[in-house]
Amino acid sequence: MSSQPKAQHGVFFYDFNRQQSDQKQEILQGLTQTPKRISAKYFYDQTGSELFEAITQLDEYYPTRTEVQLLKDYREAIINKAGRHSVLIEYGSGASTKIQLLLDALKPKAYVPLDISKDFLFDSAIALRQLFPWLEIHATCLDYSQPAKLPHGLPVNAKKVAFFPGSSLGNFSPNEALSFLKGVRKTVGDQGAMLIGVDLVKSDEVLNAAYNDAKGVTAQFNLNSLAHLNAIGDGNFNVDNFQHHAFFNRALSRIEMHLISKYDQVVSLFGQRLSFKKGEAITTEYSYKFEPNHFANFVQGAGFESEHCWTDKQKNFALFWLTAV
Ligand code: AVI
Repeated sequence: MSSQPKAQHGVFFYDFNRQQSDQKQEILQGLTQTPKRISAKYFYDQTGSELFEAITQLDEYYPTRTEVQLLKDYREAIINKAGRHSVLIEYGSGASTKIQLLLDALKPKAYVPLDISKDFLFDSAIALRQLFPWLEIHATCLDYSQPAKLPHGLPVNAKKVAFFPGSSLGNFSPNEALSFLKGVRKTVGDQGAMLIGVDLVKSDEVLNAAYNDAKGVTAQFNLNSLAHLNAIGDGNFNVDNFQHHAFFNRALSRIEMHLISKYDQVVSLFGQRLSFKKGEAITTEYSYKFEPNHFANFVQGAGFESEHCWTDKQKNFALFWLTAV
């Protein structure tokens, strides 16, 4: 683990990601429990990050275009809330696309993109700096689902604003979401704020289509997590031996994504043999969908107040402005 920043092309880089031994324990524990589980963060190697960007362009995947439209429609109001010259921290920054809509007006003192996918983060940060040459960027590779410290060397005495778009909060369980929000509240401090995008509950039809697209990109994204595990743990998963399965579980208000074993099979990972029965599922992702009122109540448990909520006409998606209380 290296905490010393490396400056390249005018961007400061930090690698705070965990050691392979921690990942090994987490992955093997998930794959030896019943039902089997892989954390959704293992979607995001280079290929997975690219596939996710492709998902965001799909007709069926409404969250990204709806959120982008909200950012455009309510840009002025958002900028008024955030103020200029803040330290802007983006959780799960990916390609840093959405933030580009706000940067010129916000003129942050520093932008801190946090992402687990190192090469993708670094390439995106360099591309962003080319578009915004005045921007101080501190690109930080880490698993933001774990409590994390920000890099040293950020401008002091600036308001901290967290940006967490895309309804990625929905990929946490309710308990994890609460501790994550508490961590963000601690990071932004008493003067801080958070702009967060959340996907709203809607018809089964729309939700099921969004996670079962006709081109099969979501299926590839799901299956790619096995290829990623192969790379991390010297494994021999054959992705063709598993099938994508996603559906909306209304009782629990979440999309569930699974990989179903097509056969009885044994796979080697980290030198350990893992057995799968035909039809057995590995859960790869939950994507919780929210009711606006419940969400506003929920964030209070983390020390935030919902000051404003912007939604589209169909109430498909919401952007919340949260302030520290
Ligand atoms: C990143 N996250 C909010 C996406 C979601 O919708 O839960 C990941 C995703 N999974 C399948 N499609 C997109």
